Amino acid sequence: MDINKIQNLKNQAISSILEAKSDKELERLRIAYLGRKGKITQILKGIPSLGPSERKEIGQIANDAKKAVEQALADAKKAETVKKIDLDKDWIDITAPGKKPPLGHIHLVTDAIQEITQIFEKIGFTRIAYPEVEWDWYAFEGLNMPENHPARDEWETFFIADLQNKRYGNAVLTPHTSSGQVRELEKSKPPIRMLNIAKCYRRQSDISHSPMFYQFEGLHVDKGINLTHLKGTIDYFAKAYFGPNRETRLRPFHFQFTEPSIEVDVSCDICQGKGCRLCKEGWLELAGAGIVHPTVLKYGGIDPEKYSGYAFGFGVERVLMMKSGLKLDDLRLLYANDLKFLKQF
Ligand code: DAH
Repeated sequence: MDINKIQNLKNQAISSILEAKSDKELERLRIAYLGRKGKITQILKGIPSLGPSERKEIGQIANDAKKAVEQALADAKKAETVKKIDLDKDWIDITAPGKKPPLGHIHLVTDAIQEITQIFEKIGFTRIAYPEVEWDWYAFEGLNMPENHPARDEWETFFIADLQNKRYGNAVLTPHTSSGQVRELEKSKPPIRMLNIAKCYRRQSDISHSPMFYQFEGLHVDKGINLTHLKGTIDYFAKAYFGPNRETRLRPFHFQFTEPSIEVDVSCDICQGKGCRLCKEGWLELAGAGIVHPTVLKYGGIDPEKYSGYAFGFGVERVLMMKSGLKLDDLRLLYANDLKFLKQF
């Protein structure tokens, strides 16, 4: 038996298979080569009658040829199926609109931060960022709250272990944006109009508190600044952010870093200030504010005889919830990264 003959037979079979145009033709070729009376089958059948030396060599080549032809048939069948799907059934309508890739959107807190920034930029406030990990000095002492002062308790602070500075004390996670006040005073000369929007941290977690939250802090220092400027600025913000029908009111309060100190309320949108279940008496608490304490100005290197200023601090999540009537029953949802919740906005 001739080895070349077997090789030729194999090549012939494969090239016919490649040229075949239908399943029927492939089946015909399979029978012609590998069927019971097929050409390759015949050769394989003849092998036992060969001499022992030929038997081994021819046997191997004939078996290889059989396998190669089987493989070629299987490949051709697969290709044929693909062709059929493309051309017969799944024809492509190239005019149909494409599938849009899923598109995210800005988180509602980020959205609120951008809006607040724009509102204050219009009246000359410049946004600035200060450290998220802060020294005790800027968070408390520089704000007129010396070590062990009971007022500090309100801030339920996270302390960073083993990080201290001789002059500035312990490292803490910024518990409020007021920590930017002394930093700003140190670095700028009046007139100062700073807006500090940043993450704050406190050891508290319940339906209206999250250990991480945002505040925005305004600081305005110049000659002759007084409470009426503060009232005007807060009114302007409330009307720009909440709408023209909202009013603000100032209530006396106490903070160590302002004198006098106030809390700011905004009239309730739901009852228009008449009093309802949400607000009880027509007003919702919004922010802390006041006239910057002379000691704080001094710590920042500003002469309190020449200059005065006001400062205010609002919770971002709080104003966001009051604006949109979100009626969130748990503030922590804002940071739970639950797409089902976030996609609603
Ligand atoms: N830092 C205060 C807080 O977190 C809020 C505050 C009160 C900010 C009075 C001020 C201020 O700028 O003057 O509760």
